[in-house]
Amino acid sequence: MEAVYAAILAGGSGTRMGNPDKPKQFWDLCGRPVIVHTIEKFCMVDSFDEVIVLSPATWVNQTRDIVARYLAAFADRIAVVAGGAERNDTILNAIAYIEQAHGLGDDDIIVTHDAVRPFVSLRIIEENIAAAREFGACDTVVPATDTIVCSVDGKRISSIPDRAECYQGQTPQSFNACRLKELFAKLDSGERQRLTDACKIVVLEGDPVALVRGDAANMKLTYASDMRMARALAESGADNA
Ligand code: CTP
Repeated sequence: MEAVYAAILAGGSGTRMGNPDKPKQFWDLCGRPVIVHTIEKFCMVDSFDEVIVLSPATWVNQTRDIVARYLAAFADRIAVVAGGAERNDTILNAIAYIEQAHGLGDDDIIVTHDAVRPFVSLRIIEENIAAAREFGACDTVVPATDTIVCSVDGKRISSIPDRAECYQGQTPQSFNACRLKELFAKLDSGERQRLTDACKIVVLEGDPVALVRGDAANMKLTYASDMRMARALAESGADNA
């Protein structure tokens, strides 16, 4: 039987949010840090053998304290380890941790999720696990509501794809962990920095990546205005997933 791991990506610094002394994943959202809301969702899904939280190296101890304080009931299923310089490095650290702590099985699945998307639903998480098992990889998406306009030089339109074929990517993004490790190993460090979307790495290799239906509420906290929206959503009960 394969093992299923969640990798909560919390290694970023949140510069666009401001206050870089305290990355946004540690900001308060209705009485608990953002990251607690996110980790809790994954702990509520029994399929996970372990929920791995990857925080900035300088925040590992505080993150462990946060887990002990707010998530004591789940603490034995949560591991906190250091993330990396770029988002892809953080994912690689998760795979390296799994390999060293548990060994990597051929069919093991890793469900990667932005720590700053606290409103992910249990349905989205469960569908990710099922799709990664069936297809080897999946991405969580919502149909594009605005028309997507492409411009190569940032001055003139180069193409306008058919909106019916366009989606906006969210997370989780889930993978067969061995295959993802193999694909990362093929990239040089430049490609690893440029290919910021892990699903794109899989798509470029020609492997199938299934779509899982996301949700508008599964928003990413990027700017201060997103934080205000998140507080309103949390107060309205959107966090009950
Ligand atoms: N992330 C990560 N490791 C990194 C960079 C990002 O785990 N080295 C995580 C972030 O913590 C976040 C998610 O990836 O949960 C999405 O990152 P994003 O918000 O785009 O980046 P940040 O670095 O957090 O923010 P900013 O770009 O504004 O500095």
